[in-house]
Amino acid sequence: MRVLELYAGIGGVAATGADVVAAIDHDPFAHAVYTANFDHPAHRLNLVSVRPERLAGFGAPVWWMSPPCQPFTVRGARRDVDDRRCESLLHLLDVFETHAPDTVVVENVPGFEGSVAHARLRHALRDHHLAEVEWCPSALGWPVQRRRFYLVASRRPVTLHMPEPVPLPLATFLDPDPPAHTELDADFLRRFGDALHVVDAADPEAVACCFTGAYGRSPVYAGSYLRQDGRVRRFSPSEVARLMGFPEGFSLPEDPARSYRLLGNSLAVPVVRVLLQLLEE
Ligand SMILES: C[S@@+](CC[C@H](N)C(=O)[O-])C[C@H]1O[C@@H](n2cnc3c(N)ncnc32)[C@H](O)[C@@H]1O
Repeated sequence: MRVLELYAGIGGVAATGADVVAAIDHDPFAHAVYTANFDHPAHRLNLVSVRPERLAGFGAPVWWMSPPCQPFTVRGARRDVDDRRCESLLHLLDVFETHAPDTVVVENVPGFEGSVAHARLRHALRDHHLAEVEWCPSALGWPVQRRRFYLVASRRPVTLHMPEPVPLPLATFLDPDPPAHTELDADFLRRFGDALHVVDAADPEAVACCFTGAYGRSPVYAGSYLRQDGRVRRFSPSEVARLMGFPEGFSLPEDPARSYRLLGNSLAVPVVRVLLQLLEE
């Protein structure tokens, strides 16, 4: 099943092993990570003005779309379609009027559901069968949360059901030798220690909370910390990448802040894999 990966970021769809024909994103840093990890074409393009014929010309029956979530996040201003970051999505909805593919999958934060953009998306794909779910990788047994809304629009009926979980212990996702920048200094622990969400490396049922792009910058509400060998530290970018489902050896930027930002914007790869498999049934 050939997929066109739109708003491709660092390639949460390609990381499933899907047959991605091409990827599009305008961000230079995301593009650099994408091309370092995948061989298929990745185009640095602004989707606001991409021509419908160009998208259709990739010949992919499935278009995956992860548009920016800032217009819909609960902690943001929730400007919805009035947020400029929604312009490209509105353009793609126009594209669907003449060049809709067989299947479209849209991923976004739970706050997308019920938005004006959501209603317009449903309207633009009114000739498709629609199925919607809010899924989290922790329900598959992964030791991390990332609850997201998924809409699948297909020319044939599709049923979305989550497979039985296979519990995966947090310990198997950890670096044998974590980098020095994951250490927290005494002042940080004194100021924020009580507010940190800490998971224990030895706890087989530990589930980390969702890592956002602000991890490493924002002390709280951006992801969990790890208690290991009697100390509390940050998760490293490779640990976050593993928890998100990226394969071992996935190449990330040298700068940890940039890695955290790109990973925090990316996808729960195991959930994407399940959805793409369901589309093949
Ligand atoms: C929520 S992130 C999706 C990340 C991606 N799914 C991944 O696996 O990393 C949104 C992405 O859309 C890109 N983006 C936002 N507006 C865009 C536009 N107008 N044209 C192209 N890409 C855009 C951003 O650079 C960002 O990488």
